[in-house]
Amino acid sequence: MKKLLIANWKMHYGPIKAGAWIRAFRRERLPKDVDIAVAVPFVSLAAARASLGRASIPALAAQNVFWAEEGAFTGEISPSMLKEFGTEYCLVGHSERRAHLGETDEMVQKKAAALQKAGIIPVICVGETEAQRKRGEANKVVRAQVQAAITDLKMDGKVPVAIAYEPVWAIGSGKPCTAQEAKQMHEVIRVVLQKKLGAGADEIRIIYGGSVDLRNVSEYVTTTGIDGCLVGGASLDPRNFGLLCRAANPA
Ligand code: PGA
Repeated sequence: MKKLLIANWKMHYGPIKAGAWIRAFRRERLPKDVDIAVAVPFVSLAAARASLGRASIPALAAQNVFWAEEGAFTGEISPSMLKEFGTEYCLVGHSERRAHLGETDEMVQKKAAALQKAGIIPVICVGETEAQRKRGEANKVVRAQVQAAITDLKMDGKVPVAIAYEPVWAIGSGKPCTAQEAKQMHEVIRVVLQKKLGAGADEIRIIYGGSVDLRNVSEYVTTTGIDGCLVGGASLDPRNFGLLCRAANPA
């Protein structure tokens, strides 16, 4: 399975800066054996696509979606709208959305299913808070998040899905979870996927996110069971993200 690296710009870069980022990133020497995507704000999808043209590296990703196809949902964006930009991936349930916008497991589940139906790969974000980890509830919390999110997903002949394990305490904190801690949680997640989805579950990439940078990325991607990384802060500079992608390339 190829490793997957996703840049998550979060709320950075409108169309002007997005276009410049894509052009600069495309000048980097990018590895062929790593799948690379960039999750941009909705308003920057068009500019990112224009800078990419027909190129598919990096693949385009969105950071959120709504589950209905169209209708009276002011301010929301549907999977088919994302498709118009050739969007290949979409994050769902990022902990910042869960924390600031009240996104629930039920919403995450509906969004993931709607994306899969539209042919966009949902990247389902899960992770425990520091308090939950201290109370010894990390496995239970993450298991429940994954179970809820995959309720309506299908494996047969459908676009795959991906899971991003992002412990909340490791995001933007400079305190990354160790590769061994991440590996343990990825094993917990893998079991949940296998129970629900059978053999097809082994095709699902489980990536790690939370303070990934140039110094630690290779440790994550060389650890068995970690299928790539979701990178926030360290992806804002295109040069740096290019270096990170190279560091994730299998030797
Ligand atoms: P970070 O963010 O790399 O800045 O910690 C990761 C994420 O939230 O996706």
